[in-house]
Amino acid sequence: MFRHVLAAMMALAASWAMPLAAQPLPVLAATPPMGWNSWNRYGCGIDEKLIRGVADAMVANGMRDAGYTFVNIDDCWQGERDPDGYIQADAQRFPSGIRALADYVHTRGLKLGIYSDAGSKTCGGRAGSQGHEYQDARQYARWGVDYLKYDWCNTGTGAAQRNPREAYATMRDALDKAGRPIVFSICEWGDSKPWEWAQAIGQLWRTTGDIGNCWDCHLGHGGWSSLGVLQILDKQDGLRSFAGPGHWNDPDMLEVGNLPDLNANRSHFALWAMLAAPLIVGTDVVGMKPEITRILTNPHLIAIDQDALGIQGFAWLRSGDVEVWARPLAGERWAVAVLNRSAQPQTHVIDWSGEPLSDNVSQKSADLGKRRFKLVDGWTGKATGDTATPLKVSLAPRDTAVFILEPAA
Ligand code: GLA
Repeated sequence: MFRHVLAAMMALAASWAMPLAAQPLPVLAATPPMGWNSWNRYGCGIDEKLIRGVADAMVANGMRDAGYTFVNIDDCWQGERDPDGYIQADAQRFPSGIRALADYVHTRGLKLGIYSDAGSKTCGGRAGSQGHEYQDARQYARWGVDYLKYDWCNTGTGAAQRNPREAYATMRDALDKAGRPIVFSICEWGDSKPWEWAQAIGQLWRTTGDIGNCWDCHLGHGGWSSLGVLQILDKQDGLRSFAGPGHWNDPDMLEVGNLPDLNANRSHFALWAMLAAPLIVGTDVVGMKPEITRILTNPHLIAIDQDALGIQGFAWLRSGDVEVWARPLAGERWAVAVLNRSAQPQTHVIDWSGEPLSDNVSQKSADLGKRRFKLVDGWTGKATGDTATPLKVSLAPRDTAVFILEPAA
């Protein structure tokens, strides 16, 4: 009897001693997270009025019902720490506090996200979480926060730099200890290949530096550059095998609505859907033009992004400035996106029966020579022929056509 009790006690002690990060993560993001974030459009110019207005707009314009759940406050919400070390919101900009904001957002059927940094200070110079991880996680949980984006500025240089894996695991453990399910978004810009180590730590990890508001460019900011949509797209090469349900490559938040050219906005959204990317809107959703709302709430594109198999797409065919992307979907369907990278109109013909469509990561293939698929236009939802005959696609500058291939009975 005593031996049994002793064995049970030892087993219990062993389970307590297990590092938290080694335990399987709760599934908080079976499909890529969808929401809004303040940074791309507002930078540090944020306050509680803006965030409340965004939540209201997301309900009124159909974004919430289309699947956008998170309202995420990025950098610069923080004030000072209190005498016990607990972080407080900036009292000028968030006078009602984060708890009240979380309540406001929750009442509208949405969730609240917040931002911090693994270093001594955030990128915007506010208090970072280094050395305060458990206190910060506790504070977020008390406030009712549902999502944490965790940045990588001011984490030291050279030999003195924090170990990213350790730093992110520490915050993961702190969030677990705090006891509230909080999606953990790893933002260390892909520097230490987080796709190789972050699956057991967070639900999504940035794969690149910051996106900028442009299609094909590098935007210089002194010591660093932000990247255009095409530059970010090209950096996803080779990463698709690391993503899947519960853990996603994050090619950064959307500039849809900010890009000056409507076609580029459409393409950016279609490409992120093909990449199974988190869809975190980064524009002014209160004053949003209807054509941008239509892009962001397109049900067919969202369904591609959120497909249950979670298989990230790949560049299937390339011909000059035209790229054809493919992505296996549930139900033996495929999504195919035809991208015009250039500033000139392009015409492209896909000869379905002559092009083997197979995916060496998921091992799925569509024998287009033998099997016929119906084509549905991803922008309009309309039937548009089948794969029995070659498809001629005319593309405006920087536009993307999208097709969903459904097995014909
Ligand atoms: C970094 C991140 C951005 C944003 C800013 C905030 O640059 O990569 O997404 O959060 O910090 O300062």
